[in-house]
Amino acid sequence: MSVHKEIKRVTTHILQEMKQRGEKISMLTAYDYSMATILDDAGLDVLLVGDSASNVMAGHETTLPITLDQMIYHAASVIRAVKRAFVVVDLPFGSYQGNSKEALNSAIRIMKESGAHGVKLEGGEEIIESVQRIITAGIPVMGHLGLTPQSIYKFGTYTVRAKEEEEANKLKSDVLALQAAGCFAIVLEKIPAALGKEATDSLNIPTIGIGAGPHCDGQVLVVNDMIGLTKGFKPRFLRQYVNLYEEIYGAAQAYIRDVKGLDFPNDKEQY
Ligand code: KIV
Repeated sequence: MSVHKEIKRVTTHILQEMKQRGEKISMLTAYDYSMATILDDAGLDVLLVGDSASNVMAGHETTLPITLDQMIYHAASVIRAVKRAFVVVDLPFGSYQGNSKEALNSAIRIMKESGAHGVKLEGGEEIIESVQRIITAGIPVMGHLGLTPQSIYKFGTYTVRAKEEEEANKLKSDVLALQAAGCFAIVLEKIPAALGKEATDSLNIPTIGIGAGPHCDGQVLVVNDMIGLTKGFKPRFLRQYVNLYEEIYGAAQAYIRDVKGLDFPNDKEQY
């Protein structure tokens, strides 16, 4: 399948059409201007300014510490790079769980101060009021179910979610509730492939999977994992397309060698 670069701007409407015609949606995370420029030029449909920035950009163990101001900084950097992709920004932990007014205020700050195109919230029925309020204000919302990293201390582990019937049933009713509330898409993270299919088939809006099997309407990965920057992180669902850790490590060593060996800068590399 070729990359649809003729699409001028990806919209929620275009993502819906992709589901209808069976074209898979490509999504990666992005946190900064340089990476977002490459990913947008390459033709990604959706860029997610994920709160995984807390892990891969800031070095925190979880996504919990990142703040709304920090998310806005990352999102504005990505937006400045993007010409085509639809850019979604995570509402960080603590910026929407209090009540729906707080959620709306946080979403409005993201939209106004970064220029993003939509926001993502983790959770189902328990955050429906917030989802509705944000959508009523005209802001597109992406849902996120299954493994929701902002609840890691409730789960206790990063293992596959919804393997048991009760949790699977809750997920099946949550996807329908998020769709009824007006979400334009839902991320499904680390759930059995069969459940990913069942949830996807039950919806008119697209699902975007990460460790949720091949039947989702699209796939998302954390870009730093996908390009091999996160050393030693190799969950089963991850396909690593290049090992940039090795490449950059090698380049850094070559640079050290050249500087210390008086090889850099040479005659042509000076004024
Ligand atoms: O923050 C993030 O990177 C995410 C993806 C894993 C979907 O939410």
